[in-house]
Amino acid sequence: MPALVVVGAQWGDEGKGKIVDLYTPYSDLVVRFAGGANAGHTLVVGGEKVILHLIPSGILHPNARCVVAQGTVLDPEVLLREIDELEARGVSVRDRLFISDRAHVVLPQHKLIDALREKQRGEDAIGTTKRGIGPTYEDKVGRRGVRIGDLIRPALLEKIEANLEAWAPLFSALGDQLPDAKKIAEDFAALGERLRPFIADSAAIVNEAVKADKKILLEGAQGMMLDIDHGTYPFVTSSNAVAGGACAGAGIGPTAIKKVVGISKAYATRVGGGPFPSELLDETGDALRNAGGEFGSTTGRPRRCGWLDLPALRMAARVNGMCEIALTKLDVLTGFKELKVCVAYELEGERLLEPPFDCLGSVKAIYETLPGWDEPIDGAKSRDALPENARAYIELIEREIGVPVSLISVGPDREQTVSFEDPFVIGS
Ligand code: IMP
Repeated sequence: MPALVVVGAQWGDEGKGKIVDLYTPYSDLVVRFAGGANAGHTLVVGGEKVILHLIPSGILHPNARCVVAQGTVLDPEVLLREIDELEARGVSVRDRLFISDRAHVVLPQHKLIDALREKQRGEDAIGTTKRGIGPTYEDKVGRRGVRIGDLIRPALLEKIEANLEAWAPLFSALGDQLPDAKKIAEDFAALGERLRPFIADSAAIVNEAVKADKKILLEGAQGMMLDIDHGTYPFVTSSNAVAGGACAGAGIGPTAIKKVVGISKAYATRVGGGPFPSELLDETGDALRNAGGEFGSTTGRPRRCGWLDLPALRMAARVNGMCEIALTKLDVLTGFKELKVCVAYELEGERLLEPPFDCLGSVKAIYETLPGWDEPIDGAKSRDALPENARAYIELIEREIGVPVSLISVGPDREQTVSFEDPFVIGS
């Protein structure tokens, strides 16, 4: 069975890192297909914390081969820092990490523009991670981007000059100095040299694996509600976070994908601005944040917290063609007397089962209330061992979404996982 896609079914931060880590031993190749250093997974290696933004967390398994594909946008400094940190902790990445020559490069001007634009937007700021993601994708579709392969080719300076020229009017309007093309070209050529051993035609590698019937794990970034086409536009990221993005991003045909697993937390969180109908701005929200450690691994920002949003999850199931749900952080809900679940929205007297075109603060969440549970579940070994109310909570999700929950995470450790089977088995 060739490819399995793992995607975020909410606003990102669903715990994809842990799921990819669990699925990697069953995989021959792990492929990150979209996004950039806006994402972040916190991992513990040899007792020390490592935060990976670009390299798939599967790299921690010594036999896993990992690809950072062409749908991503890459900051070479971040990439090299991750490689250095992993090597320093004894995780060798040589000959098993492949970085697409077609992935676009995040240049210093992209980060500057990202920050300047956010400042200009004032109260309407998107709350980006300021990693230059939007402007880099903008240059990609504007056909003036610089790609990883350009870093090790002689025309780099001309490409950077042409790119800067396109941004010159904006810099001058904002009264800011245009960065120096020559300096950027020199710095990035040096970074390119260091990256040279890893640069590859990644789509060819992935396709070879498809042809050889290898097991390919395609790892998305962010989540459906942040997808450029399907999310809460304009409060979104600039790439396709949905499963469809895996084909273009990794360079394979849709027929290679045999399963899609959507990851959802047992409640909801969001970082940055934009609508969040089930948001809790009270002490229950604070309690969720504290119990769930909801602080961003990329920016450290406190995450906005709320009850599980089923209209959003329903849409995620549809748009991604989700076959299964991996439900994470169920343990965080332990101790809440009652739990609410947003089952629908109300907009101008109408009941909506999915997010409408423009839900900027105008929809009202309609809740169903369920009794909570007090028994700790972080040591549960099977779904049957969960308290009755926890099982009823999961059953509500399955009933409403029409997709089975195939994995339940009840704590950060690998062992704290319930109902988990080989993900490459179809119909599991
Ligand atoms: P950008 O991707 O940095 O341009 O940010 C656009 C929006 O997506 C902002 O609201 C960010 O907070 C959000 N975002 C981007 N990456 C992530 C992520 O990995 N997790 C959660 N939110 C993210």
